[in-house]
Amino acid sequence: MLKKNQIIEIKIDKIVNGGEGLGYYNDFAVFVPMSVPNDILKIKIISVKKSYARGLIEEIVEAGEERVEDRSKITFEDFQGCDFGMLQYSAQLKYKKLMVEDVMRKIGKLENVRVNDVLGSVEPYHYRNKIIEPFSKYNGEIITGFFKRKSHDVFQVEENILNSKLGNEIIRELKKILNREKVSVYDEKEHSGILRHIMVRTNSKDEAMVVLIINATKVEKRYKDILMELKNKIGQIKSIYVSLNNRRTNFALGEKNIFIWGEKSIKEEIDGIHFNISPKSFFQINLPQTKRLYNVAINYFENIENKYIVDAYSGTGTIAMILSKKAKKVYAIELVESATLDGVKTAQENEIENIQFINGAVEDKMLELINRGDKVDAVIFDPPRKGIEEKSLIKTSESGIKEIVYISCNPSTFARDAEILTRLGYKIDEVQPVDMFPGTSHTEVVGRFYK
Ligand SMILES: C[S@@+](CC[C@H](N)C(=O)[O-])C[C@H]1O[C@@H](n2cnc3c(N)ncnc32)[C@H](O)[C@@H]1O
Repeated sequence: MLKKNQIIEIKIDKIVNGGEGLGYYNDFAVFVPMSVPNDILKIKIISVKKSYARGLIEEIVEAGEERVEDRSKITFEDFQGCDFGMLQYSAQLKYKKLMVEDVMRKIGKLENVRVNDVLGSVEPYHYRNKIIEPFSKYNGEIITGFFKRKSHDVFQVEENILNSKLGNEIIRELKKILNREKVSVYDEKEHSGILRHIMVRTNSKDEAMVVLIINATKVEKRYKDILMELKNKIGQIKSIYVSLNNRRTNFALGEKNIFIWGEKSIKEEIDGIHFNISPKSFFQINLPQTKRLYNVAINYFENIENKYIVDAYSGTGTIAMILSKKAKKVYAIELVESATLDGVKTAQENEIENIQFINGAVEDKMLELINRGDKVDAVIFDPPRKGIEEKSLIKTSESGIKEIVYISCNPSTFARDAEILTRLGYKIDEVQPVDMFPGTSHTEVVGRFYK
């Protein structure tokens, strides 16, 4: 029997759903985060359960052939919090596909659904257009970074591999000024100190919005001066805010976002539609891959022209707006009010008139729509990770809707819902995974269900 803290040598057989490696020690399953198939590793056991244990890498004895070249990196922190960072990019795509196949078989009970190759990212690094980093102090110096696994200790890296390069540059320059000015850092235990988080949003024209999040009730001139100095150094900064957050909360942005300088929003464009991005707006973080994902999803519809389509879990209505160019009418149903309001505004600015924005839960509002007798030809679902409520799927089927396109950021709940939909009489031929989050084990999938 394995014991906690025991050091063992193990060979990794495969990567399982969730992204961890799996090997066997005397026939007992051991999960090892950050490991690669065919790795031979010295690991330290950190927990032992009835039927499996988990261990962390102490040393790479022999590296699997799909491991990245740098063998000095072994921990989650070494890979800057990227749980797939140890895999070469082509191998990341291979294992993401295998994970989707696995859940479609095991959870979806769908043996005959083809899983296509994952659409990989042209740029697997520096793809994030939104960065939020907490401030901390280390050896008397102001740092920013990300939290260590299961901890509130901040971990700093010189050049974050997922952040936009412009975002990294801005944060680096800002820290120089803040260190010189000796601004205090927020301490969550004491609920004192000023600097909480820095948020940088960038667009595809390489313009940036800077939001400094501080523990204060008003913006003193000192902080405005610091931000002006930063802007004078980096010409791509087009918009500056200070967010006031004096609550005891893990949520970064405060309720008041004070506009300091420049434009109130930065702009982004998808398919000819112009979006205004303000500090609070929801916007997909990997733009090129989002465009590809939307493209796959929309092309799955047999025919959009003159159709009545529901965009369920619509966020700010991005997909609804693209569909609205050809569809007769689109209903965009979204729970979060500010996202609905952002959508209304963007539609007005783009002179789109055939979208009805509906604020509320899909489970209630779709039912209302159908019961009201409004025509609905097809639905596109893009739910959060927990997937779709069964009653919404049943109602969709009962109302005679013959075509559903389903985008999901969680292949497991997608597979669960796919099983329900097939029981309700829908067919699905293929699943298309899209890599929205290179470096991580997350995969986005999209599929079309039809009767
Ligand atoms: C994955 S996002 C979809 C984003 C959008 N389709 C896009 O591409 O920008 C899921 C959205 O569902 C919303 N949501 C969560 N639960 C909901 C519910 N029960 N009813 C309606 N919307 C919900 C969330 O607020 C979030 O905006």
